[in-house]
Amino acid sequence: MPDDEPSSPVCYANEADAIYMGYAGRDELIAALTELLEAERAGDRIAHASTKDAPDTGYGDLMRAVRGDEAHWCAMLARYLKRLDATVSTRCGAFHQKAMAIADPWERLAFLNRGQQWVVRKLETLMPRVRDDGLYADLRKMRDSHRVNITMAEMLLNSPDGPSTPA
Ligand SMILES: [Fe+2]
Repeated sequence: MPDDEPSSPVCYANEADAIYMGYAGRDELIAALTELLEAERAGDRIAHASTKDAPDTGYGDLMRAVRGDEAHWCAMLARYLKRLDATVSTRCGAFHQKAMAIADPWERLAFLNRGQQWVVRKLETLMPRVRDDGLYADLRKMRDSHRVNITMAEMLLNSPDGPSTPA
């Protein structure tokens, strides 16, 4: 086998080796990061809309925090997609419409939290297949931040200030 083909772009030079070793190739990474980006964009919009009908301050504070995080991860994912020379999707995941069809803010929060758990599962499937150390570290931060937000939402949903409180 010859060494690296001189015509290969630098960043993909060892892609065949990486795929052989079980790492995700460029196309698979782009698909996975795009799916996550569209999900995070949906989360950003749901959280933003939900701050407007917050039933209490804890709910509003959580939604503002979640929105800030979702926007942060959108920017991170877009940065890596650009680095992969991919077109950065401007679509918003279908999850957004489904969530906004839920009128009750507490039920919407529970639904959003299930979406956040889906994101954690996606990240945990993807992470072992990511070869790039920087991307791996950022995906791990994204997963950890999602876990914190999921726990905070569960605490709020189960707290005396949560949905069980009579209006
Ligand atoms: Fe998210």
